[in-house]
Amino acid sequence: MSEINNVGVLGCGLMGSGIAQTAAAAGFTTIVREVSDQLCEKGRSGIAGQLARLVEKGKMDAAARDALLGRLSFTTRVADLRSCDIVIEAVVEDLELKNALWRELDALCPAHTIFASNTSSLTIAAMAAATTRADRFVGLHFFNPVPVMKLVEVVRTVTTSPETAERAFAFGRKLGKEPVRAKDTSGFIVNLLLVPYLLDAVRQLEHGVASVSDMDKAMQLGCGYPMGPFTLLDFVGLDTTYKIAEIMFAEYREQRYAPPPLLKRMVLAGYYGRKSGRGFYDYADPKQPTLTNLGL
Ligand code: 3HC
Repeated sequence: MSEINNVGVLGCGLMGSGIAQTAAAAGFTTIVREVSDQLCEKGRSGIAGQLARLVEKGKMDAAARDALLGRLSFTTRVADLRSCDIVIEAVVEDLELKNALWRELDALCPAHTIFASNTSSLTIAAMAAATTRADRFVGLHFFNPVPVMKLVEVVRTVTTSPETAERAFAFGRKLGKEPVRAKDTSGFIVNLLLVPYLLDAVRQLEHGVASVSDMDKAMQLGCGYPMGPFTLLDFVGLDTTYKIAEIMFAEYREQRYAPPPLLKRMVLAGYYGRKSGRGFYDYADPKQPTLTNLGL
């Protein structure tokens, strides 16, 4: 089995930057591709900010931070990922966009390079089929915030070779994560359970079961969840959750995955959650979020 030394990451949003930070922290030479210099700079400064906080708290020394940043580079050119041993894709949930990137890299990367998608709801098979290396294609699904959450789902589709699945699993461990094996069913393990729960919370709100803050409090204090469903929806992103729900609904044609109208309306209004400053809560003061008046 050839070793993994160089990691490529496609996309430097919430998930891509977390994956890049985690890979560089684990000692891998890591290159991140974004579509513009501004987004590269946003990704770089976001990671530098996270690391500065770790140094401030005494969890990392300045030398380790500098070494980590030294292993991390950014580019706008897809071709700069040509010598990576693994490429992890974390761009928006748009199959055509993802497959255009995979086709380009498929023609450039050596045979041993593994392609891994961090998709949260598309099937791995739909991407593997766009390449000539369907046997070296896996899912590596991380959780937000990636540097903190210990889990990675390692997804084997029908074409993934046992050797690739093992290399991806071992790589997950080297990243300091706890890998679990999952099959290529839309939603894998976690989102198959989590997404209907989040959508049900929105439906309960539509039906007037209780207030946003009481439902959040109930799930936190009644079930020991670190965040209630609405805080988590704002954290994951309402736009992201909406997209995942649409994909899962198209896959299963079951009502439980259908995005509720309120979620759609909030996305149309640009209420994406934390990242846009407003979702179920208003983050004008991020330390003291207040309830958004949704006119319910
Ligand atoms: N990036 C990096 N580190 C972060 C962070 C971030 N965005 N947010 C928090 N942290 C770190 C803090 O620095 C802190 O580190 P320390 O303990 O070493 O000091 C630690 O996490 C705990 O943070 P806080 O004390 O500020 O706050 P909490 O104790 O409330 O923890 C949390 C924050 C870890 C985000 C916790 O609330 C949590 O686990 N929430 C649930 C998250 C979750 O469910 N994620 C999965 C979402 S689903 C998903 O990602 C799948 C996708 O496909 C949709």
